[in-house]
Amino acid sequence: MSVPSTPFPIRSKLPATGTSIFSVMSALAQQHGAVNLGQGFPDYAIDPVLIDLVTAAMRAGHNQYPLSAGVMALREAIAAKVLRLYGRAYDPETEVTVTTGATQGIFTTIGALAHPGDEVIVFEPAYDSYIPAIRLAGATPVPIPLTVPGYDIDWAAVRRAVTSRTRMILVNTPNNPGTGILSAEDLQQFAEITRSTAIVIVSDEVYEHMVYDGARHESLARNDELAACSVVIGSFGKTFHATGWKVGYTLAPREITAEIRRVHQFTVFTVNSAVQHGLAAFLAEPSRYEELPAFFTAKRDLLRTVIADAPFDLLPCRGSYFQLATYGRVSEEPAFEFAQRLVREFGVATIPLSAFYQDGTDHRVIRFCFAKRDETILAAADRLRRISGSN
Ligand SMILES: Cc1ncc(COP(=O)(O)O)c(C=O)c1O
Repeated sequence: MSVPSTPFPIRSKLPATGTSIFSVMSALAQQHGAVNLGQGFPDYAIDPVLIDLVTAAMRAGHNQYPLSAGVMALREAIAAKVLRLYGRAYDPETEVTVTTGATQGIFTTIGALAHPGDEVIVFEPAYDSYIPAIRLAGATPVPIPLTVPGYDIDWAAVRRAVTSRTRMILVNTPNNPGTGILSAEDLQQFAEITRSTAIVIVSDEVYEHMVYDGARHESLARNDELAACSVVIGSFGKTFHATGWKVGYTLAPREITAEIRRVHQFTVFTVNSAVQHGLAAFLAEPSRYEELPAFFTAKRDLLRTVIADAPFDLLPCRGSYFQLATYGRVSEEPAFEFAQRLVREFGVATIPLSAFYQDGTDHRVIRFCFAKRDETILAAADRLRRISGSN
């Protein structure tokens, strides 16, 4: 017996939201046997030591609800890492909270702090979970476009957008999909704009270890003024190549953390125990994250080299594990159509940047993910070089 249809209309809380572009492109990739450089996840194995540590944790009996804020050993390890990298000492007891991936950290933070009627500034192109989370909190998203083609923050536009109702600014550095990074000057701008206000900055830093060419990651945690009013969000899925494990965290002053935890305890209550124990032990060796920029620089450079003679113009990539490209030499199609045609006719899946704008703004840019095995990158390049217009 199948399930009967609901006999009354459902009033959607997110009526404008369809299937995410990642699901759409991944499904299309599968249908056409395409090389998938679309969705941002690695196709290579994670460190077997981490698997052993998680397995050992399960065998040691870490299989029941841990503390709601997270396993203390993991909170301590996160605090130690952040102190080492950014010089800020978050208290594991009151200022570090383990979440089900960065996504839940973002959702819970917005849900806890944004009230109906509040405005939340968000930069576009924006990672796709931000605006639905703002809307579900009953707040109003205020999108500000990043500059094109550099995808930097237009500070004059931010100043114009701040009102007495601005409760929060959501920022993402290194940026997905823009691939830009915040500079120390950008942090100063944030400090000036939020000084003497009650604005909380939510800084999504899931790509903190993917910063290139000698630049350093300017975490908001580094800045005294900003650390006092910011929630910094991290993801072990991104850092340790295990996106399917969904473990992340929030860092925030105790007053803000208290509010995040009020909501956290009723959304997920807690995060799976064995993975938290495994991560805590794995973090004891800093080289495990300190070698990531070199690892991803090699991937970025490989992708850029092998698609150099495909008919794209590659934008600079300063951060994240994505490479942006324009395709004006071969097509005038909108990015969504072009990306679909790339899958169907050339067997390579990418993500159109237009999907990261509420109003579908289209600068005809597509995004490649280079967190892939070298063979995958080479296979994609072979196919991309066949696009007419290439040499
Ligand atoms: C900017 C950004 N934030 C958050 C996430 C989600 O992180 P997690 O898998 O830890 O929830 C992603 C995943 O692609 C991302 O690109």
